[in-house]
Amino acid sequence: MSHALDEIKIGGLGASRKRVEDNRFIRGKGNYTDDITLPGMLHMEILRSPLAHARIKSIDASKAWDIPGVHLVLTGEMMATRNLAWMPTLSYDTQAVLATDKVRFQGQEVACVIADDPYIAKDACEAIDVDYEPLPVIVNPRQAVAEDAPVIRDDKDSQRDNVIYDWEVGDKAGTDRAFEQADVISKLQLHYPRSHPSPIECCGSIADFNRATSKLTVYMTTQAPHIIRAAVALVAELPEHMIRIISPDIGGGFGNKVPVYPGYVCSILASILLERPVKWIEDKSGNLISTGFARDVYLDGEMALRRDGKILGVRIHTDADHGAFFSDAQPSKFKIGLMHSAFAAYDIPAAHLTARGTYSNKAPGGVAYRCSFRVTEAMFFQERMIQAAADDLGMDQAEFRRMNFVRDEDFPHRTPFGFLTDSGQYAKCLDVGLKAIGYEEFRREQAEARAKGRLLGLGISTMTEPLGAGNSREYDILGIKMFDSAELKVHMTGKAIVRTGARGQGQGHETTWAQIVSHELGIPADDVVVEEGDTDTAPFGMGTYASRSTPVAGAAVAMVSRKIRAKARKLAAHLLEVSEEDVEWELGRFYVRSAPDRGVTIQECAMAAYSNMPDGMEPGLENTAYYDPPNLTWPFAVYIVTVEVDPETGVWDVLKMVAVDDCGVRINPMIVEGQIMGGLTEAYAMANMQFITFDADGNCVGSNYMDYLLPSAWETPGFELHSEVVTPCPHHPIGAKGIGECAAVGGPAAFVNAVLDALSGTGVRNIDMPLLPDRVWEAITYRRDVSGAPPVRSDD
Ligand code: CDP
Repeated sequence: MSHALDEIKIGGLGASRKRVEDNRFIRGKGNYTDDITLPGMLHMEILRSPLAHARIKSIDASKAWDIPGVHLVLTGEMMATRNLAWMPTLSYDTQAVLATDKVRFQGQEVACVIADDPYIAKDACEAIDVDYEPLPVIVNPRQAVAEDAPVIRDDKDSQRDNVIYDWEVGDKAGTDRAFEQADVISKLQLHYPRSHPSPIECCGSIADFNRATSKLTVYMTTQAPHIIRAAVALVAELPEHMIRIISPDIGGGFGNKVPVYPGYVCSILASILLERPVKWIEDKSGNLISTGFARDVYLDGEMALRRDGKILGVRIHTDADHGAFFSDAQPSKFKIGLMHSAFAAYDIPAAHLTARGTYSNKAPGGVAYRCSFRVTEAMFFQERMIQAAADDLGMDQAEFRRMNFVRDEDFPHRTPFGFLTDSGQYAKCLDVGLKAIGYEEFRREQAEARAKGRLLGLGISTMTEPLGAGNSREYDILGIKMFDSAELKVHMTGKAIVRTGARGQGQGHETTWAQIVSHELGIPADDVVVEEGDTDTAPFGMGTYASRSTPVAGAAVAMVSRKIRAKARKLAAHLLEVSEEDVEWELGRFYVRSAPDRGVTIQECAMAAYSNMPDGMEPGLENTAYYDPPNLTWPFAVYIVTVEVDPETGVWDVLKMVAVDDCGVRINPMIVEGQIMGGLTEAYAMANMQFITFDADGNCVGSNYMDYLLPSAWETPGFELHSEVVTPCPHHPIGAKGIGECAAVGGPAAFVNAVLDALSGTGVRNIDMPLLPDRVWEAITYRRDVSGAPPVRSDD
């Protein structure tokens, strides 16, 4: 008779265990950077540029120095004397820490004041007198490449224009041939607007340099503490072993907390100079105008089609507006991130992508907001293009997708731009979604409603995302290979601590990593504590973004658990007095193959590791695993939305939304559903209401929560989630694929497609996000496309 533990009862794989971190979060007991107070701590505030492009003629900080309570005023000139006025970015560019020659975007950091409290520091910032000479402003790629465009990055000797890269991928000749053979060519142009990850907690740091020990400790809201440690070592030229980065609880990241920001560098220098802890907490407008914007890409593509619906080829051109500094964090091999994941789920013989990136007078952009390095733009264009092509062919949306999907038996499949996908059941996911939304019935209702002047629409979006960067052969950041790690220590009573190189920001790692240990070792999840975010204790890792935690760090947790189990087996053999080959494993227990009732629990093995190990065995039960994944994981999803659009006002309401996500094996189904709901909410917000842009003078429009809207429970629609389709990842140790970003990546196109479907027959091909009522109304009333792209001239 089996003595195996009941995996669900002990909180193993598949258990919808309540999130352990919520015990402190919902009681207001989280420990965020701003909750930390150190003895003798000073406060830093940043003076930002009001202008988007201007030469700095002079900075007079004398009045600020005179204010009682001010300890230090940092300017670019002072930073330059320490070689810190500029810093390297994660994309091999440079970024101003404090401006010296020019300001290049509104909100750029010009000076910092360190004072006894933040109010004195803020007042002192206002006492700094900066004399600016305004320069012409560039707010979009078209202006950036105009003949007479001012060179924004004239600080770089080699930079003669505003182009950052011109890049291509795919099969140009094959694609040209596909277009020659096409019966129909379908075209689409759109702008994926800037959006902001906008975590509730803004960025911040507390730098604490101790001269006596030469140790620098920095508490900061970072998603990638080890990368920050390396960056600080290189930029500040401090010895890496004397730097400790602690990332306490994080109030949301979504990609915003991956880059290195000037505030971090200034607080560190201030602490070194003053030999006191220096705290910098960014305010909301500072966060919204100066940190990690995402998207801002112009997408222009066409599809070669055979009359029967077969896609023969795709061409895409992208123009990405990166702002004043090219500071995305992305694998260095891929100039526009993983944009070439486009059409990965479709069987398309030929594709070609050209990509250009330009500077503008905007804050640095291109950060991956809940997305793997431009995958969101790729999936958005893909699903908008698919809908346009099906319409051009007069084909049914669902049928067109189904006939062009990669089939289950075609894996492993080489995607049009060269990735290797390994698993999925695309048509099945679509079928589940269509049934759940009541597809045929809705189409009938839609036709009847149209006859009465009501505009109903249905939008489908699918997404497959390359999650889990990387494998170290192909993925690196600044040359550092992308892998991850886990360390597991089992104490003598069988309780355990696991640490990883990832850093959760609300995703529930403290819950799910324990479940993986539980699955592998049979230690109840409640007996496993998870710790992340301290570079002095956690093994080296690349951090948490791009939904890479489960595919990489989660895999490392499984692998280190297996190492522990291998040693525990030797201990079990010793305790049972049989040879190792005669020992079998069932969840939580080793037993003698020939006498299954004779066994020892994993906890008994743990005790033996400290009290009764065989001769010659190293004591203790702990280990570390570094995991370099063989491939990315490829989750798949289908999102379907129905909407009703009011023709009088352009307001649209969601009638129903269904989501079918296949992320392989779900560690914690409840957490997975939470991730999907969060992603869909962000997708809805991007499609419906979030508007942050720049006027012709480079002023940021939407720099506060009155204008940049966060959806509350009141306006967010309900979502019906489906988990019927499970295609385990063939190479992940527990078959899991990433999920955190999927819904935010694939969701927006479903909403936009639904609204455009409601407008079908009017000739309107595109409305750029957000689909604000006035834009939709304009499209309906004037039967024309409506773009939300930033203005070209000041009178636009
Ligand atoms: O990297 P990040 O944590 O943002 O994303 P993720 O790896 O997709 O994981 C998000 C959360 O969902 C974590 O708590 C995961 O452990 C959990 N998850 C899961 O339970 N099952 C999966 N197949 C994937 C993720």
